[in-house]
Amino acid sequence: GVKLNIAFIGFGGVGQALAQILLEKNHHLNEKYGLNTKIVAVSDVMKGSVYDPEGLNIEDLLSSVKEKGSVEEYPDSSTVQKGLNSIQTIEDTNADMIVEVTFTDVETGQPAIDHCETAFQKGKSVVTTNKGPAAVKLNSLLKLAEENGAFFGFEGTVMSGTPALRLPETTLAGNDIREVVGILNGTTNYILTEMEKGLSFEDSLKQAQSLGYAEADPTNDVEGYDVRYKAAILANYVLGEEVSAKEIHCEGIRSVSQDMVQDALDEGKRWKLLARIKKEDGKVEATVQPEKIEMTNPLAGVTGATNAILYDCDLAGPIMLTGAGAGLKETGFSLLIDIIHAHLESKKQTSGVR
Ligand code: HSE
Repeated sequence: GVKLNIAFIGFGGVGQALAQILLEKNHHLNEKYGLNTKIVAVSDVMKGSVYDPEGLNIEDLLSSVKEKGSVEEYPDSSTVQKGLNSIQTIEDTNADMIVEVTFTDVETGQPAIDHCETAFQKGKSVVTTNKGPAAVKLNSLLKLAEENGAFFGFEGTVMSGTPALRLPETTLAGNDIREVVGILNGTTNYILTEMEKGLSFEDSLKQAQSLGYAEADPTNDVEGYDVRYKAAILANYVLGEEVSAKEIHCEGIRSVSQDMVQDALDEGKRWKLLARIKKEDGKVEATVQPEKIEMTNPLAGVTGATNAILYDCDLAGPIMLTGAGAGLKETGFSLLIDIIHAHLESKKQTSGVR
């Protein structure tokens, strides 16, 4: 099989979830895709760093972080090196694939953008679930990756492990996608669903927080900013138009009152926070706002924290994809989708089939 050395930059919940998946799926990846993954390095600003060019033992790695809160508790050996920072881990280790899962500011995209650029300049591939790089600098990063023979994967930035980005690129290829409409935030969809049952906005938000959907500071969810970044990524990647998040009209769900929710139900309708990205006369128009939709609209049936996306295709007609938009295992899986895809791409190139 093909050997793939992986380094993790950041090792929080999502990174650890992917490490666990790689441990469990190692055999399957080998059998099915001829892919032999090895975690060689981890570097985390809080949890320290460990590097072994021969490959780290994933069970030891996970137990040292879970039990001691540090990866530097990993057992020493003659090949193990500790104390490398993120840039050194990207540049100076034998990793070919960088899993970028740091805490990154979504508005500036940093430090994830620096990590991506450093990797690409070294000809190394990057997969990330951080929205910043794809929302702020997508085209320049894709170009830099391509120039250096590297792969850039960011499937998890929209709907986590539900493949909202790869589906239109692969299975729906050949269609002209005229419009994409989505419920792309679990917290706000959960709140709207609970408000229909009579709960107040504040109580529904508290519930969403206790269930772990919302962030500690839920402003990004409630005000629609999280969806706006996802809409920018969809506009750029799926509809191929350079749109920056700031240009997208954005309104959250604060304006949707309990009365409005009940009145809509009486009319046989439902309020949803929708991202709508539309191509008309070659121009792309994107909005994020609450919309009152008919119950017959397939998006009306998507309740609770579930996400959904509807692609309006010229040949296939409307196609809807629904699934989780968050969760550690699901988001870890989104990185696996990218890793497998990168492997399949490189296999095609080396065999001359393109
Ligand atoms: N907080 C987001 C949501 C998940 O509620 O859907 C991460 O994008």
